[in-house]
Amino acid sequence: MEILRIHDRNLSGRHVPHVLAAKSLELNRFSLGWSLKCNEFWRNLRTLCREELFSSKAISSQACIRETKVKEMLEFIGKREGKVVRIRDVVSAVVLNMLGNIMVSRDLVNLEDESVHTGEINRILRNISDLASIPNISDIYPLLAPLDLQRLRKKGMELHQRSSEMWKTIIKDRKENREIGIAPNHQDFLDAIIKKGCPEDQVNLLFLELFIAGTDTSSWVIEWTMAELIRNPRCLKIVEDELATEIKHNSITESHVANLTYLQVCIKGCTLLCHFSSLIGQLSHAKL
Ligand code: HEM
Repeated sequence: MEILRIHDRNLSGRHVPHVLAAKSLELNRFSLGWSLKCNEFWRNLRTLCREELFSSKAISSQACIRETKVKEMLEFIGKREGKVVRIRDVVSAVVLNMLGNIMVSRDLVNLEDESVHTGEINRILRNISDLASIPNISDIYPLLAPLDLQRLRKKGMELHQRSSEMWKTIIKDRKENREIGIAPNHQDFLDAIIKKGCPEDQVNLLFLELFIAGTDTSSWVIEWTMAELIRNPRCLKIVEDELATEIKHNSITESHVANLTYLQVCIKGCTLLCHFSSLIGQLSHAKL
């Protein structure tokens, strides 16, 4: 209780790596995930994301997008029977398209492309994730940070710039399409942001952060769960039986998920394993 009541701010703080654009104070005030202060921008973003993306109403209204994307993924994998498929690549492309359709009502990656590495956003996210995994001397000795000895911050800022250019084009297209009446009928996350009148820098950073937060996490959890199941044939058999009992036809809907209780436990277990490191990171950052 003491942790939650007295040390909540310290424990909810995050170390902001130098490679991220949000490290600069100019951009940090716009950040959702890395904001150093709970300022007005941060509060507005939290409210916007809660209402438009994470509320139960928003989640259930997105069900049909997720179901369509899962169907496309199954068809894609089905066509490659007998061939090697890199599950992480496929899942991360599918998750990108799910988020793309939820946020800006369009696919961002072409799943049918053999390489699955197409799409500027995919390249940017991969490069950021690669950069962030390199130990950075600026994080270990912040005094040396202005020198950016490994040029990681420079590369990180270039990627942020590329991502901003991409979002700028998408936002411009949407505004123009709305004017000539060919935009999607429904209001999506992008419309909600445009309506709120958020500054351009904030929108660019928000999109980048949401895609970073949502893509690798989801594909890692699925890849880890599959790997753990392969290592545990007894558990794999239970999952296979559960799937065979619950899913009679080829089409999977979200209503099936509630009945896949054993699979859910496996995924939760792997999520805990995957993200235990994040908790350790947070505790070490806390100024207790
Ligand atoms: C299996 C998938 C996912 C896992 C395991 C996961 C895990 C996490 C964890 C552990 C944190 C907290 C990090 C910390 O406190 O330091 C976090 C934060 C966050 N996640 Fe996820 N996440 C997943 C999917 C998503 C998706 C799909 C989105 C949305 C697009 C998302 C958006 C966020 C955001 C915005 C935050 C920061 C929240 C804040 O600062 O208050 N995540 N996630």
